[in-house]
Amino acid sequence: MLGYIRRRFSSGDVQGEGEEGEQQQQQQPSQTPQPTPPPPPQPQQQQQQHQKTSATSFFSRRGPSPSAPTSPSKSASSSALTNPFASGSGGGGGAGSSGGSAGFASQIGLSRSIFGKAHAYNKDRCKTLLVIDEPHTDWSKYFRGRKILTDYDIRVEQAVFADIRLTANTRFGCTVELMGSEGQQADGKSARSFKPDFVLVRQHVRDADKDWRRLIIGFMHAGVPTINSAMALFNCSERAWLFAHLAQIQSRVGDDNFPLIEQNYFPCYQDLEFKLRANRSTNFLDVTVAQDNFPMAMKIGHAHSGLGKIKISGPDEYRDVSGALAVAGTYATTEALVDAKFDIHVQKIGAYYKAYARRSISGNWKANVSSAMLEQLNMTDKFRQWIDEVARLFGGLDICSVETVQHKNGRVFIIEANGSDMPLIGDSQEEDRRAIAELTLSRMHHACSEAAVLAAQRAKSQQPLGDQQQQQQQQQQQKVNGASTPESSDRRRQQQQPRPQQMQNSLDEGDDTMRNLRKTFAGIFGDM
Ligand SMILES: Nc1ncnc2c1ncn2[C@@H]1O[C@H](COP(=O)(O)OP(=O)(O)OP(=O)(O)O)[C@@H](O)[C@H]1O
Ligand SMILES: [Mg+2]
Repeated sequence: MLGYIRRRFSSGDVQGEGEEGEQQQQQQPSQTPQPTPPPPPQPQQQQQQHQKTSATSFFSRRGPSPSAPTSPSKSASSSALTNPFASGSGGGGGAGSSGGSAGFASQIGLSRSIFGKAHAYNKDRCKTLLVIDEPHTDWSKYFRGRKILTDYDIRVEQAVFADIRLTANTRFGCTVELMGSEGQQADGKSARSFKPDFVLVRQHVRDADKDWRRLIIGFMHAGVPTINSAMALFNCSERAWLFAHLAQIQSRVGDDNFPLIEQNYFPCYQDLEFKLRANRSTNFLDVTVAQDNFPMAMKIGHAHSGLGKIKISGPDEYRDVSGALAVAGTYATTEALVDAKFDIHVQKIGAYYKAYARRSISGNWKANVSSAMLEQLNMTDKFRQWIDEVARLFGGLDICSVETVQHKNGRVFIIEANGSDMPLIGDSQEEDRRAIAELTLSRMHHACSEAAVLAAQRAKSQQPLGDQQQQQQQQQQQKVNGASTPESSDRRRQQQQPRPQQMQNSLDEGDDTMRNLRKTFAGIFGDM
């Protein structure tokens, strides 16, 4: 069953992977996944591609990175990327491709990537994508020259959660300011604040000592669309909560169709201790601490990259760890420690599926914390069924993965699932990042289109603001340096109570908005 490619790797720090991806991009532009509907190279094509590169091998180190770096200094031209939405664009070059308007310097904005590189975009016709990810990947290169809504550039701003200052308002939306860790701007240069039109979240929303759910709430509060959805991001950021939803899938489709590992949940350390006492004093057989249930894997709280996962060999260790949990102040779960041959990872990016087996080389029971061997697997119906079930959770996960361990006797146990922060593994991470970018473009195009249509409808049906309210809104917009889209501000504005005496103004304003929107959509839907 295990396929071809064999290589050493760890899902964390995979320096050099990006370079390889870049080379592939330059040499094989025709293999770039194409978007809308998002790309996916067919499994057979993927296999061939991997077979071609199977001679390559690399060593890797454990690291916190969820996706491997790509050296921005070696960024390939994105001219090979095509515009999925605008006919005949062929993926021009940022502002330069925005019709005749691009020639005017005053209309060109510069978004500085986290690597200090400046990227041009048309200030008057752009939508802002905020990418939340570690700096090892320069996401701006995947969107350079791309357009949505026919001729809108993508202004990419990238930051880690820690560098984001956010203000959300139910009427005016969300304003983001990017800061460095010591209070200065993240790029050390110009101040930058903007209103994101869309957000891609690749960084873990939570980890052992971090919790950024407050920012996810901010995006939800302001109605900023994200990938995965804010609902999904929030629900995937508590391991035991997500596992509880996997258990619901299992009870619905059956153990055979969704072989989730049996797990015990303890809200706090007292619950773990209680089980131990009960077992000793009453001889009550509790599955959690019965002697023949050792060794077990205890998983503490929500953390990634193997953190908080402990192998427990017997009652003494169990007691020690239970006591240590008292200072952790969180919950724990226990499950049988599977005598595993390897992990199997199944991932889905839109309609783009992949499966890998990961085998520890170092002998560590956690295959993701040291050197490991990676093999790509054929995407079977069984894998597809597991990942499709997970992808239906929380209103839909655009990007997700399922992790399993395969026992030496061949039995497979699902141990967890991940959302849009899933680690990218293997030698085709570059391909995965392109698939994520295409999916993001597609979703962003859809979200911005919807916002424009909504704004148009509201502009038609509602009345204007009072002078004071208009002033407030103008002040709010002046705080934002980035492109403030007419539809996003209109969307908020139209929620306000109408003033009869300004009915005519409102109609004029609505007509203007409609005229603009007709222009915008003429290229998408034909003349309106
Ligand atoms: N019950 C188990 N039996 C055997 N091995 C396990 C078990 N649970 C986890 N492992 C091993 O430990 C590794 C890490 O566990 P897990 O994926 O649950 O946590 P994590 O890696 O911290 O989470 P994330 O994948 O989100 O970073 C797995 O990849 C697997 O190799
Ligand atoms: Mg894992």
